[in-house]
Amino acid sequence: MKVLVLNGPNLGTLGRREPEVYGTQTLADLEKLLNERARELDFALTCLQSNHEGQLIDWIEKEGVASDAIIINPGALSHYGLALADALRGSGKPVVEVHISNVFAREPERHRMVTAAAAKGVISGLGFEGYLAALDYLAASNG
Ligand code: DQA
Repeated sequence: MKVLVLNGPNLGTLGRREPEVYGTQTLADLEKLLNERARELDFALTCLQSNHEGQLIDWIEKEGVASDAIIINPGALSHYGLALADALRGSGKPVVEVHISNVFAREPERHRMVTAAAAKGVISGLGFEGYLAALDYLAASNG
């Protein structure tokens, strides 16, 4: 299975960004972890990160077509990114949305999740394990 893994705004600074919320591991650490699990599952991953909603949408349009499923952490775009939500819905691919922190235990403005409505499911608050759980889910459900 080919899986597109997208990380949105500010996730490129994992490791030094609010470590008390997001931990001390970097995006490179996360991608290494994901690639290791992908090898076990015989999945091919494309991991991309951007701070720009339009770039994420371009990738969903182009790379998404060649993928069987999408795992995305949209960062703050989750809470207001309607264009991103439309692109995810329009991809026709199964989408799993992941958040490192438990957004529901945080400020009220993070409880509104516009992209989540375009996802099959949302994993929030399990740290990097949430991305691994998303991969395992895709393996178990075959997309
Ligand atoms: C986040 C949660 C968002 O509210 C926040 O804006 C992020 C990271 C998470 O992974 O916990 O950038 O998506």
